[in-house]
Amino acid sequence: MSKKLFIETLGCAMNSRDSEHMIAELHEKEGYETVEDYRDADLILINTCSVRERPVHKLFSELGGFNKHKKEGAKIGVCGCTASHLGEEIIKRAPYVNFVLGARNVSKIAEVLHKDKAVEIDINYDESEFAFKDFRSSPYKAYINISIGCDKACTFCIVPKTRGEEISIPDALIVQEAQRAVDNGAKEVFLLGQNVNNYGRRFSGEHEKVNFTELLRRLSKIEGLERIRFTSPHPFHMDDEFIEEFAHNPKICKSMHMPLQSGSTKVLKDMKRGYTKEWFLNRVEKLRKEAPDATISTDIIVAFPGESDSDFEETLDVMKKVKFDQIFSFKYSPRPETEAEHFEDVVDGEIGSDRLTRLQSLHNEIMDEINAGHLGKTFRVYFEDLNRDGFVSGRSDNNIVIKVKGSEELLGEFRDVKITAIGRTILTGEILA
Ligand code: SAH
Ligand code: F3S
Repeated sequence: MSKKLFIETLGCAMNSRDSEHMIAELHEKEGYETVEDYRDADLILINTCSVRERPVHKLFSELGGFNKHKKEGAKIGVCGCTASHLGEEIIKRAPYVNFVLGARNVSKIAEVLHKDKAVEIDINYDESEFAFKDFRSSPYKAYINISIGCDKACTFCIVPKTRGEEISIPDALIVQEAQRAVDNGAKEVFLLGQNVNNYGRRFSGEHEKVNFTELLRRLSKIEGLERIRFTSPHPFHMDDEFIEEFAHNPKICKSMHMPLQSGSTKVLKDMKRGYTKEWFLNRVEKLRKEAPDATISTDIIVAFPGESDSDFEETLDVMKKVKFDQIFSFKYSPRPETEAEHFEDVVDGEIGSDRLTRLQSLHNEIMDEINAGHLGKTFRVYFEDLNRDGFVSGRSDNNIVIKVKGSEELLGEFRDVKITAIGRTILTGEILA
């Protein structure tokens, strides 16, 4: 009988890919199969996120629950960014945890499993050329890492401390991986990195200096690959060449994530983001000119230390000017070992909550206006999910989530869909014959 693995994945798409890597390694090397209920598992893994504070608290209460109800003799491993950041402390606070494996050490999962109380969290460990076994949770879309770590030093962000220095994965390996995914039936690849358009600055061995734009060109030559998506690019590295390739390469999905963080040049400077409000707006203008139908999403932090009312108004001003299709918005959360942790002029918690509410309600108005404009339009949709209510959903070329009545024959297929009803996060349509 095979051994059973339960894995819970928190946080970003990179964590999702790391989980796929661990599932593959454990399956091939140790014979594990995944299960849905942790009480049935021989191994319970939690792949953690540490970008904001709340999930860290949640971790320990969850671990307690796992320990209480787990099968006798089952092991518990803590992986991911909180593992990198807390290390041994996790075992001190939760002594029943069997091992701790950092976000940059995923390839060692089959080894640490056999070392009780192992703590493997070397953030300089280089996995950029590790040949992971293949496992994909979706047959339609393939996540592919193109770089590991992050070289930036945004003052609010813990990621460089948990995922280490940025190293690009050689382009030949990425192209091979994409080709394998396409051979297995995927029509879409989703390229992942903390800062994808900084691709190619550093490889671990001797490699041809291929930049992100060139990588996109090389990938788009793969026959049968219909769509390329990526996250996250950094506004600082959005040069004209990159925007033009994005706009005019027909395989690239016309949805750009442009993490703004703040609309105030002063706050951006304190965050060490490397761009100004004007630069950001200039890049949006260039993008709109080259790719008028592209959707733009963003990340915004409110109540960063020193953010005044007028700084916050600048963020609202950018929101009104750009009219983002989607925002991920957060109240600033101080993180250990970051520069901003020591900044004075902390913004009062209630003021922060109020700003977040104002930002989100402005965005709801923007969304309603954008969505109303979609009614009656036709989009090409790639169907990926079967919903329980007799609908199948997917994404348009510009990343709008759309559902139609239908069944599993639509999965993995492209169809032209006319929008017949709008909701805030999902549109409903009919397939055109
Ligand atoms: N390079 C990654 C960033 C990962 S963190 C990317 O661009 O996706 C994802 C988002 O979390 C950031 O863009 C930021 O908006 C938010 N974030 C990071 N650190 C934070 C903190 N200390 N407090 C609140 N939000 C934070
Ligand atoms: Fe974090 Fe900034 Fe890198 S947000 S992941 S340090 S680009």
